[in-house]
Amino acid sequence: MKAVILVGGKATRLLPLTSKLPKALVPVLNTPFLEYVICHLRRHRITEIILALGNLAEPIESYFGDGSRFGVKLSYTVEKTPYGTAGGIKNAEKFLDESFIVLNGDVFTDLDITAMMTFHYRKKALVTIALTCVDDPTSYGVITTDVEGRVSLFREKPRSGEVTSNVINAGTYILEPSVLAQISPGTEVSIEREVFPSLLAQGAPIYAYTSSAYWLDIGTHGKYLQLHRDLLNGKCHQHVLDLRHDVLIGAESNLHPSAQIMGPVVIGASCFIGREVKLIGPSVIGAGGNIMENSVVDGSIIWPNTWIGPGVNVKNSILANRCFLHANSVVEESVLGDNVIVCDSCRLKSGSRIFPGTIVGAET
Ligand code: GTP
Repeated sequence: MKAVILVGGKATRLLPLTSKLPKALVPVLNTPFLEYVICHLRRHRITEIILALGNLAEPIESYFGDGSRFGVKLSYTVEKTPYGTAGGIKNAEKFLDESFIVLNGDVFTDLDITAMMTFHYRKKALVTIALTCVDDPTSYGVITTDVEGRVSLFREKPRSGEVTSNVINAGTYILEPSVLAQISPGTEVSIEREVFPSLLAQGAPIYAYTSSAYWLDIGTHGKYLQLHRDLLNGKCHQHVLDLRHDVLIGAESNLHPSAQIMGPVVIGASCFIGREVKLIGPSVIGAGGNIMENSVVDGSIIWPNTWIGPGVNVKNSILANRCFLHANSVVEESVLGDNVIVCDSCRLKSGSRIFPGTIVGAET
């Protein structure tokens, strides 16, 4: 079976992290997110993968290349304007001549894809949709099925008063190639809002595959942090790191003996952690990070090559590449884009979103 991974979205909710970096390359435990998705497919022996790209395609192609570094064969399609989730699949039609799997490229899951394939063939389904349960389904597509698992209703983004179930479309589908005939080429079409309801109205056999797999999409800053917490606390069965020791330290990193590390904490390669620094997990320090004396990093994700001056406090925040936090500054519950500079003793308002290259001077 081949796979199509949809990675052509705009990722507006993850701004300012994604102003120059596609969501697919956002680092999770210091590894680009999409690498986990590709490795998960490979574990289920799916090695021919088409990446449906749009916005910011070039950095993805140059990182993944022909896929051989990851044990897969990659092909690419690029949309000049977004074709939507169905249009992106249609654009890959020339690669698809048998049953294939489609994945939203921003979902982290340990779904048993092999079992889902078996289910799809056993049911002789035209479409099989993986389901997952969420606490709040109001920003997702809710799906209702009969006892056999056959889909009877789709409801996109129900308002809180209309919620009848918290079982949602998990963004992983197995499709028969004949579905492609239902999608108009060269135009924006949504698989969840247009194609699936239209197939259902035609009486097509659409089935839902239920499982208790770990599932999280990294669409928002909160969920991006949540994914790190879950992975570092061992909530997902997809083994991404050996965290038996609670603290992982990359090659050539240098920690002052007085630094206190309360895991789970991952420190990338070539970092410097200074005197009396406190790193409180779950936290990740990207490669080449410098954290100077008496600073505290608590529950935060720091991307590579960031410099955190002495006496700085970073809590529940995300700092993108090459940020520079001067002495005694405070960053809490905030998200900083690339190359943000925070001046001496500056305290960012909680909930700040700072765009790349900004110099945060006076009290903000
Ligand atoms: P937001 O702008 O924050 O909503 O993010 P997004 O643009 O990624 O949209 P969304 O989270 O709904 O997308 C789910 C998945 O589908 C992501 O992996 C997107 O990259 C992908 N996707 C969304 N729209 C398109 C599209 O038009 N073409 C392709 N190829 N992929 C898309």
